[in-house]
Amino acid sequence: MAQLRLEGVAKRFGEVQALAPLDLTIGSGEFLGVLGPSGCGKTTLLRCLAGLETPDEGTISFGDQVVFDGTRGIQVPPQSRGIGMVFQDLALWPHLDVFENVAFTLRARKDTKDLTARVEAALEQVRLAGYGDRYPHQLSGGQQQRIAFARAVVNRPAVLFMDEPLSALDAALRIDLRAELTALTKELGLTAVYVTHDQEEAMSMSDRILVMEEGHVRQDGLPEAIYQRPSSFFVADFIGRLNLLDRPERYLDVTRLVPAPAANGLGEVVSSGEAASADGAARTTVVAGGAGDDLGAGVAAGIRPEKVHLSPNGAHSAALEAEVELASYLGDRYELRCRVDGASTPWVVYSARRVGIGERITLHVEPEDLIVTAR
Ligand SMILES: Nc1ncnc2c1ncn2[C@@H]1O[C@H](COP(=O)(O)OP(=O)(O)OP(=O)(O)O)[C@@H](O)[C@H]1O
Ligand SMILES: [Mg+2]
Repeated sequence: MAQLRLEGVAKRFGEVQALAPLDLTIGSGEFLGVLGPSGCGKTTLLRCLAGLETPDEGTISFGDQVVFDGTRGIQVPPQSRGIGMVFQDLALWPHLDVFENVAFTLRARKDTKDLTARVEAALEQVRLAGYGDRYPHQLSGGQQQRIAFARAVVNRPAVLFMDEPLSALDAALRIDLRAELTALTKELGLTAVYVTHDQEEAMSMSDRILVMEEGHVRQDGLPEAIYQRPSSFFVADFIGRLNLLDRPERYLDVTRLVPAPAANGLGEVVSSGEAASADGAARTTVVAGGAGDDLGAGVAAGIRPEKVHLSPNGAHSAALEAEVELASYLGDRYELRCRVDGASTPWVVYSARRVGIGERITLHVEPEDLIVTAR
């Protein structure tokens, strides 16, 4: 069991700040997902943790062992950190059979006590007992992935680092293996850091998620919080789909924006209610936390597709007119791409009934479902 702690850990490559000074604690036994677009620093963070990269500054400790301290010149090598690693490129040795692939690191360290039993136990763990004398090319992609996992845990590490381990596999297999990998890490009591740019993968596997952008952690929280209460427009747009309301005040009577109470608590819709308008229709007041006092360039509002209704959902719902541009049947629903009058970007909404291309539809949104964030 190991709690990982980073304090002020930063890494720069020439002009690129791959990792801005970062403070982070990863709980013992926690499964942390690290999510973000290409080049945001995910692999750099993982490599600093693993000891494959030397940070420019800061300290890293695993439990009560300091594994990196820039000022004291401490840099514990990867093989002494008690870690296992699985990468996108599984790097199985093609000329070695499965048994020897799993045994490789143990032999390299001359740690051969009970070797056969330990390798077999690891193979059993990934449900590949009896596959020891096959070669990697005689295994499916999913089996190869499980061998890479067995190899990473044969040494009984307390910590497991995974960098896009599923991205080379096809979609259906990836979904199966997600559950399998999380179950295995929990079974072994591992503290896990899992890097991916697949938001669904991160949300379904992680206890907690870091969303990164350009070397910075933009949000750190439960998957539900990241999805439902993104702290910035970047996070809202990156995680899941977000339909943009260019000027929410055209549809909703957004009367007041109050400064956010917390640094990252921007844009929460804190209350809504009815107010009379000139045309007598019930309209809604949204009070949202935002960067400024009005809905200027600094604030964006959007709504998730599943929160847009094709028929009125409640007394407070606001109606928007739209024209359907594309309709795809997904089995359990239709996914529509439509052009909302006045909106600059197309929206994605879901429908239970078939809707034709070019058809005019009325969409309803509940103001409390709006995600209002700093731009
Ligand atoms: N060894 C290196 N030398 C120079 N620049 C590097 C090096 N490693 C990473 N970088 C740069 O640091 C930034 C972060 O890279 P990193 O590999 O951490 O991104 P990532 O989030 O893992 O991206 P991806 O999803 O594409 O794997 C990028 O701009 C990258 O080009
Ligand atoms: Mg990477």
